[in-house]
Amino acid sequence: MILQGRLLINPHQTPQPGWVRIEDRQIAELGQGNPPETPVAGDADSLICPGFIDAHIHLPQIDAVGCDPPCGDGLLEWLHRIVFPAEMRWQDADVAQEQAGIAYRRMLRAGTLGYAGFLTSHFHSVTSVIRAGHRLPLRAIAGQVLMDRGAAEPLLHHRLARLANSKRGRIAMSVNPRFAVGCSDELLSLAKVRASDGAFVQTHLAESRRECELVAELFPDDPHYTAVYDRHGLLTDRTLLAHCVHLADDEWRLIAERRSVVVHCPTANTFLQSGLFNLDAAREHGVRLALGSDVAAGPDLAMPRVARAMIEVAKMQVMTRKAAAKPHVPTPAEAWDIITRGNADALSWSDSGRLEVGAAADLLVLRVGFDLDDYLIGRLIYTWRDEYITHRVVDGRLIEIERV
Ligand code: GUN
Ligand code: ZN
Repeated sequence: MILQGRLLINPHQTPQPGWVRIEDRQIAELGQGNPPETPVAGDADSLICPGFIDAHIHLPQIDAVGCDPPCGDGLLEWLHRIVFPAEMRWQDADVAQEQAGIAYRRMLRAGTLGYAGFLTSHFHSVTSVIRAGHRLPLRAIAGQVLMDRGAAEPLLHHRLARLANSKRGRIAMSVNPRFAVGCSDELLSLAKVRASDGAFVQTHLAESRRECELVAELFPDDPHYTAVYDRHGLLTDRTLLAHCVHLADDEWRLIAERRSVVVHCPTANTFLQSGLFNLDAAREHGVRLALGSDVAAGPDLAMPRVARAMIEVAKMQVMTRKAAAKPHVPTPAEAWDIITRGNADALSWSDSGRLEVGAAADLLVLRVGFDLDDYLIGRLIYTWRDEYITHRVVDGRLIEIERV
């Protein structure tokens, strides 16, 4: 199968006319100029780029976007009022099945062809997502939520899917202790055992101030929040830590040392008024960085809009910070690089998120109504609409959106 279009190989350079040959679910060949045979999709005015990767999303919250409680008191109140009721609906296996399918279709529509995410604590949340993956083989790292306190009984840890550490199709099962507020020491120990064969660990860290205060009360012997996870051996280079808005220097250093990934979720941090992420601290400490939609705290499923939010949050800090040293504002090309290649690297997918021979064929064909000039990536990020996508190739197959 051949696709034709300008090849967005490197977002820092103007894409040149070319074509992609796909064979055996991989990019088999990249060529310049006119294609050797009639393309299946695209033409000389199209753009071809890797599909987006979302490094943090909650599938069961797909229909809870925008639920902004009046007089909202931030993360913890929102969890109780909006999120836990939404996740309770997954108690019904049919609902879980239907919603997993909806989440998959919406990600596909938005151009997200790979993700790392959270399910619910229900055993069948795992089978639901495996079924969704049979129909639509998005590349994924997904895990059943682990929590044993601080929510209604049906949401607490009962039976951990025995599949936890295995791979089903393109879905690698991860271990997802929700956050330290919701996990006892016993459950965090179990998480370590379950992840000991190399499964990814996904969790939340230091998202809101109130959450940090609660963790200090619940774990009085630990010097800080990050140390709670570290004491249980949960910080490795296969750990994804969402948010990290309120970290002290010691915590940044520890995360850098462990080579864990910090997942910046700028749209969610604004929605819940959790705080302004310190991108410079992450850069200065050499911490591995990824970007996540964090739906439903984040209202945007489309990763180019999450990239835009990262840039805008950094610009807000430039405008409001009094200190002489101004924060670095990521360029559109840097931001685009994160939602494709950078997020793939963070998830240890060295063969995803890039236009390269041998990479997985998870690609988008775009048709945009503006010049493919020096400002291309900025124009894409700031005007992004899902309608720019004319074709989606998932695992080497062209997928019609109506069919899934
Ligand atoms: N912290 C613990 N659980 C959650 C969740 O579902 N969403 C967000 N944004 N933060 C959390
Ligand atoms: Zn989250």
